[in-house]
Amino acid sequence: MATHKTVLITGATRGIGKGLALAFADAGWIVYGTGRCAAKDAHAWADAQKIILKELSVTDSAGMAALMQEIKEKHGLLDCLINNAGVASNTPASALSSEEISRIIDTNFRAVFECSQSYYKMQRKAGGCIINVASVLGMVGTSLASVYSGTKGAVIAMTKSLAIEWANSGFRVNAICPGFIDTDMTDMIKKREAIMKKLFEVIPLKRLGRPEDIAAPALMLASDAASYITGQTIVVDGGLTAM
Ligand SMILES: NC(=O)c1ccc[n+]([C@@H]2O[C@H](COP(=O)([O-])OP(=O)(O)OC[C@H]3O[C@@H](n4cnc5c(N)ncnc54)[C@H](OP(=O)(O)O)[C@@H]3O)[C@@H](O)[C@H]2O)c1
Repeated sequence: MATHKTVLITGATRGIGKGLALAFADAGWIVYGTGRCAAKDAHAWADAQKIILKELSVTDSAGMAALMQEIKEKHGLLDCLINNAGVASNTPASALSSEEISRIIDTNFRAVFECSQSYYKMQRKAGGCIINVASVLGMVGTSLASVYSGTKGAVIAMTKSLAIEWANSGFRVNAICPGFIDTDMTDMIKKREAIMKKLFEVIPLKRLGRPEDIAAPALMLASDAASYITGQTIVVDGGLTAM
């Protein structure tokens, strides 16, 4: 199915972003992705699906704005921006260094805002669609995730505010909150049998999520069928926060 629509997915080199990139490519979208380690030859899977990966940090706001402009000039429109890139930390709150705090806030919150802002400024006359990948840890608390949780809660709140502020320009802004998904980010948890056992006791669907579980609602939110959905958060967590 060819849509000829364009999507830019930040943090698409692995994990949820890779799952999103493959699903959008499969649905006929023209897919651009970014990552700090997006060296072309390292990503045969992307080349095979004609996914264009660019080596670029989301914290490089000028570089991100230039990439969006490049996509617009080449294809006429950037139909959707997915702010997915994120970093976590397993450091106790009392031990977080100011460098680590800045790294988490700059990647998970500041860059989401600045990429959204650049997209809006570039396309305020034509409209757009923004999907922010937040987290259930922006809704409920846990230990060892204080600043990470704070950034994700802030992204959920920002999603609602931008949805309202930019609605008149034809922008829709929504968020997806994954629960525990099987990616590199959950490696620390997966290695610890006791924690995994506890997790399966509180996840009603009794498994970790997969990147493709996040791709399904993202494709829905990016589609024209979702033209009346904005400012919303879709939780994809196997029922974890329903308890
Ligand atoms: N896995 C989970 O259980 C879970 C749960 C809730 C929410 N999330 C959220 O889902 C998103 C994706 O997580 P994931 O599980 O796929 O993590 P992951 O496997 O660790 O992958 C993170 C992705 O983000 C990219 N990235 C990190 N910093 C970046 C930067 N400064 N600039 C550009 N790209 C950057 C990485 O690419 P490079 O290394 O190439 O830079 C990679 O592609 C994150 O926002 C995360 O907070 C994950």
